Amino acid sequence: MKLTQLLAGILAGTALISTAAHAEITLRNAITGEQLDMSFAKKGGDTEAFKQFMQDGKNPYNGNEEVIAEGESLYMTGCSGCHGHEAEGKLGPALADDYWTYPSGETDKGLFEILFGGAQGMMGPQYVNFNTDEMLKIMAFIRSIYTGDTSKAKWLK
Ligand code: HEC
Repeated sequence: MKLTQLLAGILAGTALISTAAHAEITLRNAITGEQLDMSFAKKGGDTEAFKQFMQDGKNPYNGNEEVIAEGESLYMTGCSGCHGHEAEGKLGPALADDYWTYPSGETDKGLFEILFGGAQGMMGPQYVNFNTDEMLKIMAFIRSIYTGDTSKAKWLK
């Protein structure tokens, strides 16, 4: 009797753990593949939108004009110096076309991973300057000025 109860308890426990693990996406560094340490995240970014993003890896801000305007201003402050005012590319590559050094950038999860964890050289981790909610806003702006082939826009699927 006791053993059955114990086993039932273990089974229920495992079910709980696996549901929790499936509910969330795992964010990884674009270069090393190591899991991103979210403890570096600046305060204030754990919004409803970010929580939603952590469920399915899709940016809930895409297409939201008000948020895109905010994202544009954040982009101008933190990214345009290297990527150009229209994300046409400068020191860093263009971000509005459909060519990606890191093809993972075609998904919102992948784009977030490049922003949060950084890539090579001058592309340092952006958690230094922006919280996770602001990163989603910047991403929504970048998607809004996309000039590439829509069939390659995986984030729309
Ligand atoms: C100091 C200059 C600098 C700043 C500031 C900067 N970047 Fe970058 N970024 C770069 C460079 C250089 C690369 C190329 C790195 C590589 O190839 O690994 C890059 C790469 C990227 C990539 C990968 C592009 C691809 O084709 O795969 C994305 C996305 C990106 N940056 C977004 C941003 C965003 C958004 C911001 C602002 C939050 C930002 N960067 C701020 C210099 C910068």
